Amino acid sequence: MLSVNGLNQRYGESQTLWDLSIDAPKGQCTVVMGRNGVGKTTLLQSIMGLLKIDEGRS
Ligand SMILES: Nc1ncnc2c1ncn2[C@@H]1O[C@H](COP(=O)(O)OP(=O)(O)OP(=O)(O)O)[C@@H](O)[C@H]1O
Ligand SMILES: [Mg+2]
Repeated sequence: MLSVNGLNQRYGESQTLWDLSIDAPKGQCTVVMGRNGVGKTTLLQSIMGLLKIDEGRS
């Protein structure tokens, strides 16, 4: 199970993710969908530890 709780992420003064929480259960396929620029790549990079996050944990 991948669990993200209360994730906030900013690029400088520009906030991208606001208080984001998501659960991805083991053995299931979880898809992140959204329009261009909504923050999908930022979310995945935050989970992987490639980006500094301001608050939250996974
Ligand atoms: N390195 C960066 N510095 C500053 N702002 C960024 C940076 N990377 C992304 N952004 C901004 O953060 C927001 C989210 O971008 P992100 O790339 O996570 O969206 P996305 O959902 O993956 O978009 P796409 O569907 O185009 O792949 C956008 O407004 C983008 O312009
Ligand atoms: Mg992307």
